[in-house]
Amino acid sequence: MKTFRYGHDTETPVNIGDIFVLFNNYRVYKYMLGILVELGKTDFPNYKILEPGCGSGSKLRFLTECRAKPENCYGLEMSSSAVELCKKLSPVAMNFQQGSAMSMPFEDNYFDIVICSGLFGCFNVDQDVTRLSAEIDRVLKANGIMFVLDINENFNEFYAYNKAVMDKKLRPYDSQNGELEALLEDRFTVVSRLPAFVIDGYLKPDNTPVEVTDLPIIDKAIDDREERCAYTLWAFFKKMDDE
Ligand SMILES: C[S@@+](CC[C@H](N)C(=O)[O-])C[C@H]1O[C@@H](n2cnc3c(N)ncnc32)[C@H](O)[C@@H]1O
Repeated sequence: MKTFRYGHDTETPVNIGDIFVLFNNYRVYKYMLGILVELGKTDFPNYKILEPGCGSGSKLRFLTECRAKPENCYGLEMSSSAVELCKKLSPVAMNFQQGSAMSMPFEDNYFDIVICSGLFGCFNVDQDVTRLSAEIDRVLKANGIMFVLDINENFNEFYAYNKAVMDKKLRPYDSQNGELEALLEDRFTVVSRLPAFVIDGYLKPDNTPVEVTDLPIIDKAIDDREERCAYTLWAFFKKMDDE
């Protein structure tokens, strides 16, 4: 298998799996930035940004590359080991803490942007989904944006081969039928719904990884809706009281 090298770090080989992660992140970031630019919401140095269920904190680190200030970026995670990892990987000024997204230790109307990546997929009960959305609504400012990156109606088909993934019993949201939009409609209005990425790894029909040079072709095919995705990116506006 081909290996690549990270930037100036000539010791660490980058394998094809790393490239797929980078490719999928790139697709999410290009859509997120496109939406923010279209909405005229690019005042990154002044935004307070939250990622509940932040995992390793990669989305927040990306936004610091768009000039969000590390001290304005907040990650909340149930898992203490994830919090430790975030602290290890991120600028010291970033705020990471252990806690539940169902009851967040933040003031009302505090954040400009909330990013939920893989968090809604953790909740199988509708009441939990609406409770989570109420808590996000509480901490989000008027005119705030919530991004949701999560699994959709293609997920169970695409990952059927992977028992470990299926055993997690994650909840896909039917992006064709507006399932997530309906659950959040009391508090959020959908702005955009886009095909994020196909699957974690990209294989040819013979089950070998695709060539890196094929990724731009896959990128275009997803943009053109010729390739089905298991992951969708939604953007929501917080509804105002009189809406
Ligand atoms: C699929 S992972 C996604 C991690 C990260 N957002 C990303 O995109 O790489 C979902 C994360 O949500 C966390 N999580 C699940 N339920 C949570 C809750 N109620 N409060 C805070 N974090 C939660 C899990 O520990 C896990 O790290």
